[in-house]
Amino acid sequence: MNYLKPFDPAYCVEEERNCRRYTKYYEGVFAQGSGYLQIRGSYEEGLACADQGELYMRMPANVTIEKPRHPYSKWGVYVPGVTGIHPMLKEELVNLPYLLKLDVTADGEKLDMELPGIHNYRRCLDFRDGVLYRDFDWRTESGLVRCQYRRFLPRQLKRVVVQEFSFQVASGRCRLTIENGIDCKVTTNGYNHFKKVEESGEAGRRGCVVQTDNGDSIRMLSMLFDSQGKVLGPVVDSVLREGETLKLTKLSAVSTSRDLDAGYLEFDQMEALLAETINRGERVYLENKAQWARLWKRAGVSIVGDETAQKAVNFSIYHLLRSVNPDDSRVAVCAKGYSGEAYFGHFFWDTEVYLLPFYLYTNPELAKKLVEFRIQTLPGAMANAKAYGYPGARYPWESSVSGEEQCPNWQYADHEIHVTADVVHGIWHYYQAAGDMEFLKNALPVLKETARYWLARVCRRPGGAVTLDGVMGPDEYICLCNNNAYTNFMAARSLEITAWALELCGEAAEPGFIEDLRETAQGLMNSVDWSGVIPQCDHFEDYEEPDFETMWPDRSKPFGGQVSQEYNYRVKALKQADVLMLPYLFPERFSAEQIRQSYDFYYPYTTHDSSLSAIIHSILCVRLERDREAWELFQRALEIDLSEAKMGAAEGVHIANCGGIWQGVILGFAGMKWEYDCDQPTFYPRLPKHWKSLSFSVCMKGEFYRVSICGDQAHVIKVE
Ligand code: BGC
Repeated sequence: MNYLKPFDPAYCVEEERNCRRYTKYYEGVFAQGSGYLQIRGSYEEGLACADQGELYMRMPANVTIEKPRHPYSKWGVYVPGVTGIHPMLKEELVNLPYLLKLDVTADGEKLDMELPGIHNYRRCLDFRDGVLYRDFDWRTESGLVRCQYRRFLPRQLKRVVVQEFSFQVASGRCRLTIENGIDCKVTTNGYNHFKKVEESGEAGRRGCVVQTDNGDSIRMLSMLFDSQGKVLGPVVDSVLREGETLKLTKLSAVSTSRDLDAGYLEFDQMEALLAETINRGERVYLENKAQWARLWKRAGVSIVGDETAQKAVNFSIYHLLRSVNPDDSRVAVCAKGYSGEAYFGHFFWDTEVYLLPFYLYTNPELAKKLVEFRIQTLPGAMANAKAYGYPGARYPWESSVSGEEQCPNWQYADHEIHVTADVVHGIWHYYQAAGDMEFLKNALPVLKETARYWLARVCRRPGGAVTLDGVMGPDEYICLCNNNAYTNFMAARSLEITAWALELCGEAAEPGFIEDLRETAQGLMNSVDWSGVIPQCDHFEDYEEPDFETMWPDRSKPFGGQVSQEYNYRVKALKQADVLMLPYLFPERFSAEQIRQSYDFYYPYTTHDSSLSAIIHSILCVRLERDREAWELFQRALEIDLSEAKMGAAEGVHIANCGGIWQGVILGFAGMKWEYDCDQPTFYPRLPKHWKSLSFSVCMKGEFYRVSICGDQAHVIKVE
């Protein structure tokens, strides 16, 4: 273990001073995960000023503009799929006991990063192997202790956490007391989801079993070992003289009643797992590194000439790779990529539109988990449709693990129905990119049931018009409208997809069904005027012009937080790309002139209050050959999580934006055509002037390609 190894600045994030103002931000940035288990980057000992057991009621507000609690630090240990029931927020991902806990006392003083004796503090997360380092000097009453921490979640041992510690007395002499622990006094968004907590601590083992109010049971075991691999008591007391070093390893394991492969492990099985892990020594790290290397080989992007962009892209790829569980399609990637509690661990349209492409074109087997999740949750989607009085399947705006609607706010839950069409788009996209016919056959029930929902949900007006009334488009600042162009287009497309898929799979449908799908799709398209500037919805022009000058004085904060909802809902202000999602997703369907006109019309109204907005505009600007704007908007997307000043990742990283950044490079600057628009990887590069070259790999229809771009030339080589 050596913190001082040279880090490649493009492959790590470093924190160079401990300051409580930024602690919570770095907890999000430094999140680690094995897919199965996810942990925020908190200090082992916590922060004395941040009580983690505080009880309060988080209200179902608009997450973009609310002021969250826990200003300084928020622990987070999550097993995707382990959820609890909150009286206001509905189902939420449960923050589990804090198994990283290690309390250190030196000469009677308890370690806290805010002590005046802490110096030379540095933390660093290495994206290439997912290891988090912490290094600091601690001046105690009678000595100087050099402290080094390293921890990681080995990908090959997904339920294990490895923490290594080294305490070296650099001068004087010091009495150190180290206590291993698992802290069960934690809440999720201020709520206690634990119905039962049993803690145990005999013979060097720290264990706990907790039961959530949703009926899941979680077992955790944690043990401390010396450098010879010998089990130590939960408390280690030692007097160190100058030059002496105490090295310890803490290993922990988690198992839950939801576990698939090995099942719900007993304490003895977990102890055997930890014993095996300690015996493997450094090989545990090396195997973890090798697994990460395999993922990076497929997903890595190399930008020559721009270290800042390289770092931000690497940061995004790291979090995307960490947050997907390669072995379980009962969960997808939640809106914060399991690095915080905002959005309560729910799944959104982000899955299909922002996240799926990254996995699909780099690791299709990971993408499959996301689309299978929607097949798994079809019963939930059918229950939603029924609850709203419709046949078929209506995918939830905010999905629970079972697919039922969890959005605590009626505006989005009731009206943001485009998600049902986005799900079908994702299924078709996966099928086309992976060429996986068996998957398509398995997905047919989703296609048929969502189609049934649309056939009932559309409104057939006298005179024959087919409309979609009472919807909210991607722009959540127009609360309720008719014929939102994005929703109509996506619903129409999903009906067409269903018709194609039924024909392709030779699946019998009731007489007239396929014709009905096609006619309804055509009717929905006819209800929008596609010539010139595409109208966001009926009567968009009648909304009042927003007075941004007066009403939005502080441009560094969201517009939505500075005006009343009443004002917001009646003016033309846009939260994020809405109409413009269409030319971004389907560039072939729109002329350059049409895209330019719509861009120029909507851009001045767009607040980018949502992190899902800037990158879409950047991609469109590349295609419109507006290089300066493309670059500025790309920069804006990079800053969402990486700007320390903005502290965007405090409540968890914006994982959709991470997927968006990857798209910004590959679909934007590299100009890759979506595979549903071409048969082989096709690129129209337009690199930022200072990028000397760009290279990456993509997978299409089961084949891998290596792509190298220099200037406007792309070289594509098939990799055997
Ligand atoms: C955006 C949605 C998005 C959600 C989760 C909201 O602020 O408006 O489009 O799905 O965040 O990322």
